[in-house]
Amino acid sequence: MKNNSINILVVDDEEGILDVTEGYFQRLGYEVYTAGNGLEALEILNRVTIGCVFTDINMPKMDGLKLAEKIREKDNTLPVVIMTGYPSLENSIQTLKNGVVDYLIKPVNLEQMELTLQRILRERELFIENLILKEEVERQERLKQLNRELLERVDEVNTLNRVMEDFSLTDSSYGIFNKIVDLGVEELKADKVFFHIYSDEDKSLVNMASSDCGIENDIINSLFGNNLSKAANEFVLDVLSTDQNPCLIAGQGKNERLDEVVHSLMIVPLKIRDKIFGVATAFLFEKGRAFTEKDIYYMNFITQKAASAIENIALYENIYDNLFATLYAFVTAIEVRDLYTRKHSTRVAKYAHMIAKEMQCSEEELEVINFAGSLHDIGKIGIRDDILLKPGALTDEEFEKIKEHPVIGADIISKMGLWDREMGIIRHHHERFDGRGYPDGLKGGEIPGLARILCVADSFDAMVSDRSYRKKMEKSKAIGIIKENSGSQFDPEAVQAFLRIEDQTLLDDD
Ligand SMILES: [Fe+2]
Repeated sequence: MKNNSINILVVDDEEGILDVTEGYFQRLGYEVYTAGNGLEALEILNRVTIGCVFTDINMPKMDGLKLAEKIREKDNTLPVVIMTGYPSLENSIQTLKNGVVDYLIKPVNLEQMELTLQRILRERELFIENLILKEEVERQERLKQLNRELLERVDEVNTLNRVMEDFSLTDSSYGIFNKIVDLGVEELKADKVFFHIYSDEDKSLVNMASSDCGIENDIINSLFGNNLSKAANEFVLDVLSTDQNPCLIAGQGKNERLDEVVHSLMIVPLKIRDKIFGVATAFLFEKGRAFTEKDIYYMNFITQKAASAIENIALYENIYDNLFATLYAFVTAIEVRDLYTRKHSTRVAKYAHMIAKEMQCSEEELEVINFAGSLHDIGKIGIRDDILLKPGALTDEEFEKIKEHPVIGADIISKMGLWDREMGIIRHHHERFDGRGYPDGLKGGEIPGLARILCVADSFDAMVSDRSYRKKMEKSKAIGIIKENSGSQFDPEAVQAFLRIEDQTLLDDD
């Protein structure tokens, strides 16, 4: 009973044929179903799983060709064998179209029928195996492809995130220009990246940042000199004049010297509010490498993020400047009320800046002391006029009130939340080196260094200016007092620096 798992269906309108084939195949161990026409056959197919169909052509109700067509619609893997007494070319073509796998000529030899059946079943098995195998291979392929795409997307998202993060950590325009260049090298693997600021007015490019270059210097120098050479400059300008969108250029014969050395060149304008602010250019010198569309997409993303970072900084600087202007207006307002302190803050800022410079303070510190110097007495806004403007000596109580001004000033500045260092300097500009000053009685190194400098500048200017309660002092006398109080009231280092510059502009009358 080797074939008991296979059901066959024999369809013929001649009952004799059905009987003979049924008996024959049953003896061989097949389960045999029989039908007198196509309709009956379909009815059986609907309820039984059949492995192979043998069918006559000419039958009542539904003929064999129609049956084959129906079977094909239902299950195109089910083999159909046509048995016909009158083979014709037309029939053969029709049967093949309907997916019939073979046909036998009547009268049918039963052994031949069985051989056909075995061959067909074997073929079908292979066909199904192949189908499964093919599906599996395709599935694997699809998976691999999806995986590749996924990895690419992850890579892309990571790159974009890195770009965003990098710009969010940058707080100066120069930092941003350098970041564009660094990211060009890191993410695009460019051999050289430049960033230029573009002036629409005189159609010029000014180099703001360029990457270090891994390739031989003489190649770079031959092309660019220290900067982007005139040729490259003109070339980029030429491109910008016709196309303001990111573009890729490689050996287009527009410029012989460029084509010789540059294998692939990318020009990506950085636009702020639709106007070109600058241009990022990236180069590949190595033959066989070229930028791709994806590279240009990245560079475009980088310049876009840079553009918004630049805008933010500009906005911040604008707010910062506005705020400073407002605060400074307060200081001026205080000084205007008091004839004797007019321009005091401006001069103190100037002197403190000079001393700090002499002490080799950094650019940033110089900026901080300039700011703090200009606003150091802003706290006086909180002191009543009758005390602040009082001619003659102050009572102890009044002096205590005056002494509140560094704290009030530091409070005002702290509310802005922008200037912590400046705030500290303003708070401590009346501390003494020996710890006997106010408001906190800090001593020596506890006092911020810039506050110690400011203290010398403030005291000097106070002594050499007229005050409501006394006449101004001779400058030489004031310098003498500063010297005498070095180490007690003043930081000796700040005094030393002050003395080194005292014969310069510091003593000029303004
Ligand atoms: Fe003061």
